[in-house]
Amino acid sequence: MRLNKYIAQSGIASRRKADELTLQGKVSVNGTVMKEPGYDIVKGDVVEVNGQIVKPDSRKAYIMLNKPKGFITSVNDERNRPTVMELVSDVDERLYPIGRLDFNTSGMLLMTNDGDLAYKLAHPRNQIYKTYRARVSGQISAEKQSKLRNGVDIGGFVTSKAIVDVIKQTERSAIVEIKIFEGKNRQVRKMFAVVGNKVLDLERIAIGELYLGHLKQGHYRKLTQKEIQYLKEC
Ligand code: URA
Repeated sequence: MRLNKYIAQSGIASRRKADELTLQGKVSVNGTVMKEPGYDIVKGDVVEVNGQIVKPDSRKAYIMLNKPKGFITSVNDERNRPTVMELVSDVDERLYPIGRLDFNTSGMLLMTNDGDLAYKLAHPRNQIYKTYRARVSGQISAEKQSKLRNGVDIGGFVTSKAIVDVIKQTERSAIVEIKIFEGKNRQVRKMFAVVGNKVLDLERIAIGELYLGHLKQGHYRKLTQKEIQYLKEC
């Protein structure tokens, strides 16, 4: 691991600040001052900053956030829009979102510093189903439901079987719960577009067997040991 990343992961400084400290000669590796931020740290190396030994964060954190609309699912945004990181800024560990929700989608977002779990859940082979509650324009006929259930072509990709339940149908709009097993970009919006309904509101209410429950928008909670175990084993 690069020296600047190693220092950043200890939580004492950002990667840029770690570069500065290194160039200022405040960092040593195995007792020798090291001025190359990109120096490759290997197992057993002892890194000191201002004479204090530092180690990358070994504590794992697992958070469920209820993302409001109007936040980007990203660590930073070049257009300076609000990011989900602002909503978890009081968590000590460095967290990363697992997967993505659109700017205008609300609901469950899992975040962790456990790279192995994030990688596992993001890999198409290991994707677990996600449940969305969509408010869509117009009517969702039995024929449309059947198309959505059996898979639709969203532009070079045919979705696999989905579970679709119409919760409420009014004259102008419908509330539909849809469980999908892949995570293509804007998948739910594209699926409804194929059958001719515009998504007006979209919320992810569950990932696998983990439900948002009463978690308020903009709030987060730590996952329980049981929930972490479930994600690791699913
Ligand atoms: N499908 C979408 O269209 N948007 C999301 O944010 C997630 C799934």
